[in-house]
Amino acid sequence: MSRPTKRVGDITRGTTHPNRLRRVDRWMLHAVCPVVRAAKDPLVVDLGYGASPITTREMFDRFQKHVRPDIEVIGIEIDPVRVKQGQAIAQSGLSFAFGGFEVPLADYRSPIAIRAFNVLRQYEEAEVKDAWQQMTDRLAPNGFLVEGTCDEIGRRSTWVAIRAGQQQPETFSISLHLDDLELPSDVAPRLPKALIHRNVASEKIHSFLQDLDRAWLSHSALIPFGARQRWVAMAESISTSYPVLDNKVRWRLGELTVPWEVVSPKS
Ligand SMILES: C[S@@+](CC[C@H](N)C(=O)[O-])C[C@H]1O[C@@H](n2cnc3c(N)ncnc32)[C@H](O)[C@@H]1O
Repeated sequence: MSRPTKRVGDITRGTTHPNRLRRVDRWMLHAVCPVVRAAKDPLVVDLGYGASPITTREMFDRFQKHVRPDIEVIGIEIDPVRVKQGQAIAQSGLSFAFGGFEVPLADYRSPIAIRAFNVLRQYEEAEVKDAWQQMTDRLAPNGFLVEGTCDEIGRRSTWVAIRAGQQQPETFSISLHLDDLELPSDVAPRLPKALIHRNVASEKIHSFLQDLDRAWLSHSALIPFGARQRWVAMAESISTSYPVLDNKVRWRLGELTVPWEVVSPKS
């Protein structure tokens, strides 16, 4: 049985959209896949799935197809009405439950991954660290919390990944639809809550976005070859001054991941 605990958090706006979370899911399939494959209990939680359970369903389908067929995904919502809506589409391996950041699970099971998207955006910055802590405390060893924000249709997205037992994120990622991108810093309104108010001179996230903009503009000669080539060239340039992770395979997708230290707020 689950331990009886208080539900931690508040019901917030339930805005969601089909396929909105494809960018973070694609990254999770790449970055979190090895630990999910190796997990004894392949349980993944989607925390705060919103007014429709569609993105939880999509996550289940993607993980079942690309990671392991015995994946189990549980959508957790703090709004009981939304839990009922989820339960209407439950199937083997996909279920829905009432809860908050305490991540209540039957038999006190520990998920190998938690995705919490567009949830902390509606909280205060001062609440972020406690929420991270509560969620990561519930992870299985080596598990990950992936917490972030995106626009309504998922074309601009950012997230952090925090490993079980850690107080701080390990990485920060940006993923953008490149075709209509003017500047990388256009992603600023979609930064995770921990960073969105820190995009000001003297903070590292601000310098980083400014440097991305400069590198992007410096490769405008590549416009005729397409935005992907331009993004890859930008990533290669920025790699000379920042410890950019991954390689061209990821960059071609409009992604860029750096260690958290590159953007972490001052205090
Ligand atoms: C904007 S929706 C996000 C929906 C979906 N994850 C997406 O990105 O499209 C935020 C949802 O998180 C839920 N929520 C807020 N705080 C929560 C908490 N502490 N635990 C569980 N759900 C929470 C809200 O009730 C709301 O339905």
